[in-house]
Amino acid sequence: MIRVRVPATTANLGPGFDCMGMALDLWNTFTMEPWGAQGDVVVENSGEGAERLATDGTNLVAETTIALLGPKWEAMGHGLKFTCHAEVPCGSGLGSSSTAVVAGVTFAEALLGDIDRDRILRRSVQIEGHGDNVGPAIVGGLLLIMPHNGGVIVRSVLTEPLRVVVCVPDFDFPTSVARAALPEKVPHKDAVFNLGRAMFALQALRNGDDDLLAIALEDRIHQPYRLSHIPGAESVIAAAKETGAIGSCLSGAGPGIIAFARSGHDLIGQAMAEAYSQAGLQARSWILDTTTEGVTFERTQA
Ligand code: HSE
Repeated sequence: MIRVRVPATTANLGPGFDCMGMALDLWNTFTMEPWGAQGDVVVENSGEGAERLATDGTNLVAETTIALLGPKWEAMGHGLKFTCHAEVPCGSGLGSSSTAVVAGVTFAEALLGDIDRDRILRRSVQIEGHGDNVGPAIVGGLLLIMPHNGGVIVRSVLTEPLRVVVCVPDFDFPTSVARAALPEKVPHKDAVFNLGRAMFALQALRNGDDDLLAIALEDRIHQPYRLSHIPGAESVIAAAKETGAIGSCLSGAGPGIIAFARSGHDLIGQAMAEAYSQAGLQARSWILDTTTEGVTFERTQA
């Protein structure tokens, strides 16, 4: 049996659209073992969103593993059983589907030979399309990532430890819809606005410079186009700041909203959920530390 743990992630961090993400200390755990006859697949789901996840080969973890196995899948002589225990809420902006892709790629690596973290990264980015969720889920910590020559370049950035609040509404806002909400072009002045904010946000995170972070989390190239689709989202960000958060922005493509704070996380989380509630949405808040650890894997006895 192979056991894989993959952390939640928060992508973009305001202005760093598609180029920056950070791992959070909330984990999905997956196992894979030989099972049944050639071609059989079963997936047992538990935890967050279990009732919504497929239990057959269309489950993202199983689908990813099998797609990468290629001819080996046809000649294994047995099928595969997967278990998925989720702590990361589905469709939240916390990289839940990235955890499934990273687990699937890691399982395929294990079946094909050695597990190589760089290859897991390359393959996961190919599947996911952009690497700001899968990257930190694999490497851990705060990660910069950019496309280059058909692959990606990544660099880890050491940060001061951070504790965040993420408030997730019961609202369906798939990444595909969130991306479709973006314009083809953005004004030049907005691009410049974001360049500056992204560079300063990075510096603020490295140095624990909260005054700078409060300003540098602003964004003009994705958030304004998305927030209007999520009822109450603007007032959730305002509520976080009014309750003492350093700053607040969409987590990834949303609909979850992340707030950075040094203290008062409980109150901030309550105020954010209350703001969603006033817009007619139920919401839950998580208080999460960052983690420098990325995907872990171990072969165990069944
Ligand atoms: N950078 C991505 C986006 C993260 O904002 O669309 C979500 O996968």
